[in-house]
Amino acid sequence: MSFQMMGLGHSTPALSVSNEDLAKIVDTSDEWIRSRTGIGSRHISQGETMTDLATAAARSALERAGVGVEELDYRICTTGQGDYITPSLACLVQQRLGASCPAFDLNAACTGFLYALDVAEGYFKSGKARRVLVVAAEMMSRHVDWSDRATCVLFGDGAGAAVLGPGDGLRAITLTARGAAEPLNIPAASNRNPYYPGEEVRTPVVAMQGGEVFKFAVTQMVADCRRVMEETGLTATDFVRFVPHQANARIIQAAMKNLGFTEEQTAMNIERYGNTSSATVPILLSELAEAGEIKRGDLLLLAAMGGGLTSGACVIKY
Ligand code: ACO
Repeated sequence: MSFQMMGLGHSTPALSVSNEDLAKIVDTSDEWIRSRTGIGSRHISQGETMTDLATAAARSALERAGVGVEELDYRICTTGQGDYITPSLACLVQQRLGASCPAFDLNAACTGFLYALDVAEGYFKSGKARRVLVVAAEMMSRHVDWSDRATCVLFGDGAGAAVLGPGDGLRAITLTARGAAEPLNIPAASNRNPYYPGEEVRTPVVAMQGGEVFKFAVTQMVADCRRVMEETGLTATDFVRFVPHQANARIIQAAMKNLGFTEEQTAMNIERYGNTSSATVPILLSELAEAGEIKRGDLLLLAAMGGGLTSGACVIKY
């Protein structure tokens, strides 16, 4: 017994910021951003909070699943950081939605949604849960240096959610973590400590060795996908969709070719959203379901990687 995805939802801020808009604030161009990343625009908060986005995504997923909030046994939010360090984002979503099941945040950077599916599987296997809500919500606009053209063009804000119920939808999952801060980090903010005047004041913005992360992403995504494909005895032609983390179209295309997927099988919406960290995969799934591009019983291969460094892949029967 694992779970099945009963309903999916997503929400993004209203404002869409184009590459041309960004070229007005940093020295960049639509041509550079599109050719290096595949990104054309991204949604950026103009006051919407993470709790707003996460709650909207959750409401939509619950409605599509036909599940009431009072039925939920666990609520897991994946995020680098919610609106507060405490309470957790999951507790704030709880406050908006009502009911009182256990609620907590999980941080595995961009791989968070897959880590949450793995945690949820444990609740179903142990018989502790019949309904679990997973919401991946990120506000990367708070964590980019808006004067750094190398990173501010890559990210966007958004939330995606899935309501899980008992079933046999998770066929195989693999997760990895290779602890290293140098390739990609967002430092914690620090306050002035009167007992440690030498403490460096740190701003929580992304620092990234783009080339290193790129190599890790392609190599690890391919390795993780091969592992779950071997475990299930499935080959590329068995999958209706390959649903990879949306960090860079070139990473996705390299993995796609290596694994033997076609362009039609490979799901991408990075052009409109940029990288929304752990929210990319559930936003993509929600859009595919909404458009009728995935149907019940379809086999999907999900893959993600990000800060940590973390990674994961799983086979889902939708
Ligand atoms: N506009 C114009 N020029 C730029 C920009 C920009 N926005 N950003 C960088 N450049 C310049 C650089 O300054 C450099 O100029 P130089 O040669 O004169 O020094 C040149 O473009 C090339 O820069 P590179 O870093 O070599 O460009 P590259 O082709 O490697 O692309 C990128 C950079 C897009 C960041 C790529 O390395 C990448 O996608 N890496 C992986 C990122 C990723 O997956 N991140 C995951 C984040 S994890 C998570 O999701 C939270």
